[in-house]
Amino acid sequence: MAEFSSPFFLCLLLVGLSIHCQHVLGQEDEVNGQKKTNPPEQHFQAKGNTTGENMAYHKIGPSNADFAFRFYRQAASQEDGKNVCFSPVSISTAFAMLMLGAKNTTLRQTLEAFAFNLTEIEEKEIHDGFRHLLHMLNQPDSGVQLSMGNALFIKDGLNVHPKFLEDVKSFYESEAFLSNFQNPPEAEKQINDYIEKKTEGKIANLVKDLDPDVLMVLVNYIFFKAYWKSPFFEHMTQEDHFFVDSKTSVKVKMMHQKGFFGIYHDETLSCWVVEMPYKGNAAALFILPDEGKMKQVEDALLKETVRKWEQALEQRNIDLYLPKFSVSGTYKMITLLQNMGLIDIFSKRADLSGITGNPDLKVSKATHKAVVEVDENGTEAAAATVIEIMVGASMDPPPVIKLNRPFLLLRKNIRSILFMGKIVNPKAP
Ligand SMILES: *[C@@H]1O[C@H](CO)[C@@H](O)[C@H](O)[C@H]1NC(C)=O
Ligand SMILES: *[C@@H]1O[C@H](CO)[C@@H](O)[C@H](O)[C@H]1NC(C)=O
Ligand SMILES: *[C@@H]1O[C@H](CO)[C@@H](O)[C@H](O)[C@H]1NC(C)=O
Ligand SMILES: *[C@@H]1O[C@H](CO)[C@@H](O)[C@H](O)[C@H]1NC(C)=O
Repeated sequence: MAEFSSPFFLCLLLVGLSIHCQHVLGQEDEVNGQKKTNPPEQHFQAKGNTTGENMAYHKIGPSNADFAFRFYRQAASQEDGKNVCFSPVSISTAFAMLMLGAKNTTLRQTLEAFAFNLTEIEEKEIHDGFRHLLHMLNQPDSGVQLSMGNALFIKDGLNVHPKFLEDVKSFYESEAFLSNFQNPPEAEKQINDYIEKKTEGKIANLVKDLDPDVLMVLVNYIFFKAYWKSPFFEHMTQEDHFFVDSKTSVKVKMMHQKGFFGIYHDETLSCWVVEMPYKGNAAALFILPDEGKMKQVEDALLKETVRKWEQALEQRNIDLYLPKFSVSGTYKMITLLQNMGLIDIFSKRADLSGITGNPDLKVSKATHKAVVEVDENGTEAAAATVIEIMVGASMDPPPVIKLNRPFLLLRKNIRSILFMGKIVNPKAP
């Protein structure tokens, strides 16, 4: 049955941050125009005790999840009635990396905004946790192609603390490049080419209008591509309506399959939860609130709620309809994060003295972009054949779960939320 298409889930996410100097640089910082790129392809060396590493990784999980849901609330309230699409783990990683250079109130606010409590976890454990997380996420995993990484673009000639560079390399596998920010088009091209390459061409020209006084740009990317364990058949896909709200509907390509999935109906919150596993070690959780219940479900969106859903999932035979879609989200994160208490790092009061030894740095730009595509892909439909046979043998008529109105999506892998989204209108850009 290899001629049929299997679904294709592609997700690309990226955080770009740039750090500016608060003051115009002096002549001594002038670069000589010589472009030196230095890509120290640092690879994580798994050190010693795997159990211990595992624990490091698990320890940051709850904080990352708390941050994800808090950030969701901010993003959703700002974009009322719009699609939401971001990678929580990607944002957390970028700022955790910055924490290596943050001190005093700046550090404290960053820890709080990212839901870390130093009475429960030590700073070293946080960075160990991210190191382990990056290592786990970048491991080759059959069927899932996922890579996440960081890069620093540093003004050529800037005196970055060697300790900071060592730490970002050893904990965050960060590549460091020297950039000529005095020539913004050249620096933009260098950064955008890097991002484009790392995201396989899906995110292009993200960085623009760089100021010539930028000192350092921090980029974090995550690239995810996976295939459903139980694929949809292309010939089952039909045009159908998606009800954006009570007055608006759009035509979508609705995929359809009958199969066994973990499902749960939350009576209290009035929503369906469907878990769709990918090949390899990842799954998507679709949350479909009953009509008019989106707000109620969003308000209850906490890690405890998701855990409860996951524990309650029951493998059932269902008739599942899911639209094909491609959505993206771009966030100017400063306002969102300021609302979450992260103030100083973006202001004159910033203390990022761990980076250069002097306190003249602040984060003056922070952009996050995520793109998600749900598509069909033309290989490996063997598993679906088996499932159709199982469906035929089933006694009860399967419940119909049709994602034809706004729904939520959580993409998970080894306890991390790689991606979180609200699909209000699959046809909106
Ligand atoms: C690994 O670490 C765990 C917890 O820190 C410890 O209990 C265990 O004995 C260690 N194993 C080895 C082989 O060192
Ligand atoms: C830390 O911040 C406090 C309050 O913002 C300030 O009074 C103090 O001088 C700072 N300490 C250092 C070492 O910069
Ligand atoms: C940090 O954790 C301690 C111990 O669990 C708790 O008492 C305290 O309230 C927490 N602080 C914050 C800001 O959540
Ligand atoms: C479908 O997936 C395979 C990997 O399983 C990939 O090699 C191929 O290029 C994909 N085809 C399309 C049309 O995306």
